[in-house]
Amino acid sequence: MRVVILESAEQVAEFGATFFVNQIVNKSNSVLGLATGSTPVSLYEKLIEKNNSGAISFKDVTTFNLDEYYGLSGDHPQSYRFFMQQKLFDHIDVAPESTHVPSGDCADPHQACKEYEQEIQRYGGIDLQLLGIGRNGHIGFNEPSSSIGSRTRVKSLTYETVRDNARFFGENETQPTLSLTMGIGTILEARKILLMATGESKADAIAYAVEGAISASCPASSLQLHPDTTIVVDKAASTELSDVEFYLDVEEKRLALEQQLIVNSAAA
Ligand code: PGA
Repeated sequence: MRVVILESAEQVAEFGATFFVNQIVNKSNSVLGLATGSTPVSLYEKLIEKNNSGAISFKDVTTFNLDEYYGLSGDHPQSYRFFMQQKLFDHIDVAPESTHVPSGDCADPHQACKEYEQEIQRYGGIDLQLLGIGRNGHIGFNEPSSSIGSRTRVKSLTYETVRDNARFFGENETQPTLSLTMGIGTILEARKILLMATGESKADAIAYAVEGAISASCPASSLQLHPDTTIVVDKAASTELSDVEFYLDVEEKRLALEQQLIVNSAAA
């Protein structure tokens, strides 16, 4: 795993934006796996800017979101479809039919999950999957105890996640306790993964994910099995890692090597 530790949340968003820009520049018809939550919001703002300035286009891009609340339709302000429209899709040149979010108000959620998997396959799989991380180590809505081989399915939310997300719901609004989520097995099939985390409240989850044993108790620890995962955190989210110096050193050497390769190829 590549572990990148940056000073601030702003730098994490900038890093994420560059990561996505490079992906789209290298492959204009990329299949992107997207995430909701507060962490990706500033990354999406930066991608909107890059799109509006003409630096990148989403015209040929396809997107698949990780998850959706079961029971909410796409026009419900707390649905993840609504979030994605507001925070990204309505402001970029992506074709509406190329954006996929599991359907929260489908008649048969089990069938909808199966079809979501098939749709990902139909597009040739996900090139780059963006992830946040829950304080309990969840990725998507794969809560602790989720099978590492799990596929897109209906999943119960933990009390902790329901509590963490309660801030988005009004007092008299019913908050869903079920979701449709890509499985951990689905996520691990993405060719590249970028997990972003900021703030002290994520420090324990990050330490477990990076340095703990691979375990269903911390779904993000399953990323240790993935051949191309980058975890980018701000200083606050890195405080429980024991090997910070090593990660900083690895990153410095990596950048130096990249520079060297650029110089070599310019000279060749
Ligand atoms: P957050 O959520 O970005 O709002 O912290 C992340 C997650 O729960 O996956």
